[in-house]
Amino acid sequence: MERIAVLTSGGDAPGMNAAIRAVVRAALIEEIIPFVVFEGYKGLFEDNIQMVDRSFVSECINRGGTIIGTARLPQFVNDDVQKKCADNLKDKGITNLVVIGGDGSYRGALGLSRFGIRVICLPGTIDNDAPGTDYTIGFDTALNTIVEAIDRLRDTSNSHQRCSIIEVMGRHCGDLAVHAGIATGAELILSSERVMTKENILDELFNAKASGKRHELVVVSENLFDVNKLAEEIEEKVGMETRATVLGHIQRGGRPSGKDRVLASLMGARAIDALKMDFDSCCVGMVNNQVVVQDLKTCLDVVRMPDLGMYTDSERLK
Ligand code: ADP
Ligand code: F6P
Repeated sequence: MERIAVLTSGGDAPGMNAAIRAVVRAALIEEIIPFVVFEGYKGLFEDNIQMVDRSFVSECINRGGTIIGTARLPQFVNDDVQKKCADNLKDKGITNLVVIGGDGSYRGALGLSRFGIRVICLPGTIDNDAPGTDYTIGFDTALNTIVEAIDRLRDTSNSHQRCSIIEVMGRHCGDLAVHAGIATGAELILSSERVMTKENILDELFNAKASGKRHELVVVSENLFDVNKLAEEIEEKVGMETRATVLGHIQRGGRPSGKDRVLASLMGARAIDALKMDFDSCCVGMVNNQVVVQDLKTCLDVVRMPDLGMYTDSERLK
């Protein structure tokens, strides 16, 4: 009987459990023996691999995080590390591996595929930056967490006539920032896709205040500015009391939204279809509202284009 293993890698994301569950359950229906690898590529290297049954994934569809753990293993870029990982799988008769993670995990998976393992990648990251998909598992939940947090900040910001800066995650991708900014009617959305000079930022906020705005929300992607320093500059140049809030890892936790559970479940099941249909190493994505299977290397070669129109639209929506 064919065998398949599943691991989660990189930052955890709500909905990863629903994806693991779908892989295990869909595999069993097709009489494929499922295994899990604990702690991502680190566990794969350390041979932390276990055969599982149906009940292993019971009661996890609604849980945040990942029940099989995740990790980052910088040494995974080395061929000898990847070969050892592939050997650990092959020693157990496993030649198929589902990798649930982001862009980095996909690159690792492609490396592993050179050593006789067919990899099937599922996009699991709150950053929405995985190749070959419009949306990643975890993005919707994180977005809703951010929106709820900003709604709370709006209350106090409005009461005190303050400017609130909110730093959100996304690594180098501004999708969380731009979606959250639009959903909360932010005055400014700053991310690597649309960098503004300090001068422009201060001018915009000054003009907004002059136009009679009682308070202002500024959503900023991580790694762009020192938000506490930016708050001081706004206080000084715009003349508005300002507070900065870094939302941090709160954004990664919590029960997955219904949308993420559905996405993860459909993608997990499709991974088993890809195996049955004898695809080479591939990735599953949601493209134009359809769950699709595409070639992994081809998707990794495509430069992901940000939807700049959203930034333009946000100008009219604040
Ligand atoms: P994500 O998958 O969410 O983007 P990371 O970028 O941290 O998260 O990647 C997760 C893991 O994938 C890394 O710790 C490493 O083991 C592996 N990885 C990342 N980039 C590469 C690469 N270029 N080649 C091989 N493995 C990689
Ligand atoms: O990739 C998910 C993510 O949460 C990014 O948004 C963020 O830059 C990074 O992981 C944080 O990583 P860590 O949990 O190692 O601090």
